[in-house]
Amino acid sequence: MLTKPFFPRLFLVLLLVLPCLFGNGALGRKMTLVTREVRIQNSGEIYVVIFDAGSSGTRVHVFRFDENINILPINGELDVQAKVTPGLSSYSDNPKEAASSIAPLLEKAVNTVPVKLRLQTPVKLGATAGLRLIGEEKSEKILHAVQILFSNSSLWYEKDWVVVISGTEEGTYMWVTMNYLLGHLGNEYSKTVGVVDLGGASVQMAYAISAETASNAPTTGEEYISKHHLRGTNYNLYVHSYLRYGQDAARAEILKSTNDSVNYCILSGYNGKYKYNGALYNARSSSSGSNYDKCRENVLEALNLNANCEVQNCTFNGVWNGGGGAGQDKLYLATAFYYRAADFNIINSKAGSGEATPADFKRAAAVTCALKSQEEASTKYPNVWTSNLPFVCMDLVYQYTLLTSGFGLDDEKSVTLIDKVKYGDFYPEASWPLGSAIQTVSTMSSTKQEAKNMFRFWSHA
Ligand SMILES: *[C@@H]1O[C@H](CO)[C@@H](O)[C@H](O)[C@H]1NC(C)=O
Ligand SMILES: *[C@@H]1O[C@H](CO)[C@@H](O)[C@H](O)[C@H]1NC(C)=O
Ligand SMILES: *[C@@H]1O[C@H](CO)[C@@H](O)[C@H](O)[C@H]1NC(C)=O
Repeated sequence: MLTKPFFPRLFLVLLLVLPCLFGNGALGRKMTLVTREVRIQNSGEIYVVIFDAGSSGTRVHVFRFDENINILPINGELDVQAKVTPGLSSYSDNPKEAASSIAPLLEKAVNTVPVKLRLQTPVKLGATAGLRLIGEEKSEKILHAVQILFSNSSLWYEKDWVVVISGTEEGTYMWVTMNYLLGHLGNEYSKTVGVVDLGGASVQMAYAISAETASNAPTTGEEYISKHHLRGTNYNLYVHSYLRYGQDAARAEILKSTNDSVNYCILSGYNGKYKYNGALYNARSSSSGSNYDKCRENVLEALNLNANCEVQNCTFNGVWNGGGGAGQDKLYLATAFYYRAADFNIINSKAGSGEATPADFKRAAAVTCALKSQEEASTKYPNVWTSNLPFVCMDLVYQYTLLTSGFGLDDEKSVTLIDKVKYGDFYPEASWPLGSAIQTVSTMSSTKQEAKNMFRFWSHA
């Protein structure tokens, strides 16, 4: 009877004393975690700071959540952002300068978080394509300089939170973001949507599969499946990132085989060069101009559909297709899929999202491939950037072929092209940092449970 009223006070004293007792080492870290978790319990709100270090610039996002992982606005904004250019990879020979270039972003993030919550606010940095490309030695030095910068801030920082993230992780976070914003996260896997994200360097396919399909996944070679616990539900996620099949990279793949001849995907009258990842490709049109059928043959070849399929059921280039299923029934297509669909009037370019079918891409491709000059193309499609005009036939034929021959979609399957998702009164951009923040908060919540269990253990000891 004595212990009951005594309980809360003991709890508090324990929390104050423990970090002092175990100041160092692995145990010390765990203890600090415990105090943080309990503080989270008390304040009822959690801030997370995510840096997206891309090739052209670095952007910081500050998110705020309640205990149930509902996103809460900060001063009327769902996602407080700031950006600096150029990207970290531009400072490849000066890591210190790379770190100081993002110091203003860190300062802004710190100032966004209330003073009393700073110590329990995780700060993470995920570097994508830019740092992947400059090689490990240089990127390690840059990341180290950023780690020093972060360790000196008043936010909660751990060394392994400043890393290069893989295309697979990017695809995973993107899936989390999309399903979260659409209100599906926490539903069983069959009530979630699949996400196809066509970036510049790679394209990611991500969807949830059944436990049974996951148990039949190929066990040799790469790991296609990861397990996640999000909003109280366990998911088996199939994610694959196809490097060299992003929109910019695919152009290089398509031009490679015609470097010494004309290319039927290039718009009439163009005779130039295409630069990608340090290599130069000739981009020469035929005297008869672009041609849908001949371009498509070229694209099919670039997809490498006849690659050896060592696992059953491949998409292209020898990659396992994930087994399909209900998690892939509804597909959301992002980034370059959305931009091209908007630029070529496949969807309403003023809306943040729209429905279409692969056949719509095919029809649009047939129209662009029949254009006779860049002038004609720019008159008809005023939103297309000048540098993209020679490639209007190629890009659309590629997207159509990727969806159908590559991913096996039916011509008439309805898909959603998406840039911004309606979320209450907000239209946040669907990008990976929010998914990373949600995963961080989900992990913190389960740690909170662990902390409670740990306390139970001590109180009995
Ligand atoms: C650490 O932060 C303090 C102020 O917050 C600053 O004066 C100092 O220069 C920083 N040190 C490093 C190594 O960045
Ligand atoms: C394409 O040909 C040009 C010469 O016309 C050469 O400089 C370039 O390296 C070639 N590119 C590839 C990828 O082979
Ligand atoms: C391949 O597809 C068949 C037929 O749809 C299915 O029965 C089998 O489980 C699949 N195998 C894998 C590894 O996905």
